Amino acid sequence: MTQASHDRLLIIDFGSQVTQLIARRLRELSVYCEIHPYQNVDEAFLADFAPKAVILSGGPDSVTREGSPRAPQSLFEMGLPVLGICYGQQTMMQQLGGLVETGHGTAEFGRAYVTPKVAQLDILDGWFSDGDEQVWMSHGDHVSKIAPGFEVYGTSPNAPFAITADPSRHFYAVQFHPEVHHTPNGAKLYENFVRLAGFTGDWTMDAYREQAIAAIRAQVGDKQVICGLSGGVDSSVTAVLLHEAIGDQLTCVFVDHGLLRKGEAEEVVTMFRDNYNMQFIHADEQELFLGELEGQSDPETKRKIIGKLFIDVFQKHANSIDGAEFLAQGTLYPDVIESVSFSGGPSVTIKSHHNVGGLPEKMGLKLVEPLRELFKDEVRALGVELGLPTSFIGRHPFPGPGLAIRCPGEITREKLDILREADAVYIDQIRKHGLYDDIWQAFVAILPVRTVGVMGDGRTYDFACALRAVTSVDGMTADYYPFTHEFLGETATRIINEVKGINRCTYDITSKPPGTIEWE
Ligand code: XMP
Repeated sequence: MTQASHDRLLIIDFGSQVTQLIARRLRELSVYCEIHPYQNVDEAFLADFAPKAVILSGGPDSVTREGSPRAPQSLFEMGLPVLGICYGQQTMMQQLGGLVETGHGTAEFGRAYVTPKVAQLDILDGWFSDGDEQVWMSHGDHVSKIAPGFEVYGTSPNAPFAITADPSRHFYAVQFHPEVHHTPNGAKLYENFVRLAGFTGDWTMDAYREQAIAAIRAQVGDKQVICGLSGGVDSSVTAVLLHEAIGDQLTCVFVDHGLLRKGEAEEVVTMFRDNYNMQFIHADEQELFLGELEGQSDPETKRKIIGKLFIDVFQKHANSIDGAEFLAQGTLYPDVIESVSFSGGPSVTIKSHHNVGGLPEKMGLKLVEPLRELFKDEVRALGVELGLPTSFIGRHPFPGPGLAIRCPGEITREKLDILREADAVYIDQIRKHGLYDDIWQAFVAILPVRTVGVMGDGRTYDFACALRAVTSVDGMTADYYPFTHEFLGETATRIINEVKGINRCTYDITSKPPGTIEWE
């Protein structure tokens, strides 16, 4: 565990689908927090973590089931402010001497309205000023008797104990989810809670930058670090942060696998080698990758080939760096939580994601992961703080396997060239219409099918392509972007007129799930 100079809030995760949203709401308040699954949190953990306050998340289990999850009992004797949400509220009640029951027509899912019972409660400052508050409920069980010392401050038709508290101990318990969008005034509740707990909002990117630089210097000493740079936001911010911390002890390796977008390699090289004056290896390995991919059409096979070659190439170049002991990676907090979360157990592999996993052990390298505590939007804020241009920071995500997964079926140089041109026109259209920043990710996929068309007086027999544009918060779920018909028509006309090799354009209106964002 990192020893921190900022105030820390602990979220004990009981497996709710929306636990990450609690963390986001808190980070928005400049409060540092970490999510830990309840199984990992015991008395010793609490002493070591030394939180200033604790939040108990929701969860899918029933408190009435024997052996169901609990918070460590000692938590309630530490004199810390505690906020229990949904399942967290129920276990809190039960552990403090109240009662929880199942069913009997009191389940509530979705929108509900809470009516105040007693007007004054510190955590409810700014609530109920216009009458009842809309909240989001999702519970089968309910509290039937509150714990000694608690009072009721709000009720809903199916949750007579929607808000209860023991203000003298700063214990608060709510049946609903204040972290979700559908509890419009929920952020206020968190704001009040952290203010009451004495947080000063000391989690800023400015403070983080200083602290991260000091931590990198302490970890690395006078050794060499290598960083795989893809040109994406995460690896770029990692590289710039490291460069600021250790200068020439850093070497970045940028692998050009021939699956990049139009002008991308030049852009990345100019940005890092010329602007930052970094030790930079531009590994042009197009022949290798495209050669190995020839004739391969299965999506997983393609991904595996790319992943393996990437490691081989990276290793080859890394071996040439004398005294390299560390490998820097742009791992983010959501990746860290997913690997330990209560709900993030073994799941079906939808796609083998490409990264440099496996490399550190193979090469005996130690990892430097300075973004491990950050969410994506915080990484962007840090990038701005570090002086990276906003146009670079705001770029749409681009996957490691690049255009390979936007070219279903066999990859050929011809198809890649057509795809690069079509993608450039599409992105140009999006920028011209001022839509780039409203869209999470947009790209063209070239389809493995030729169709018949007519241009001028002649027949064409060219490829069809699909345009994709989605809105998303984290890439886990996504919806298609609602372009106007005018925009789509104009874009299709431009692509077909300007890109030789494409004579038909479709728009992909699949959400995720059931689709995925990329085509492979
Ligand atoms: P999917 O297609 O799984 O994509 O809905 C979700 C997000 O992840 C990106 N993606 C990848 N990023 N390596 C990456 O670095 C990969 O192998 C990879 N596959 C998908 C995708 O572009 C989207 O933003």
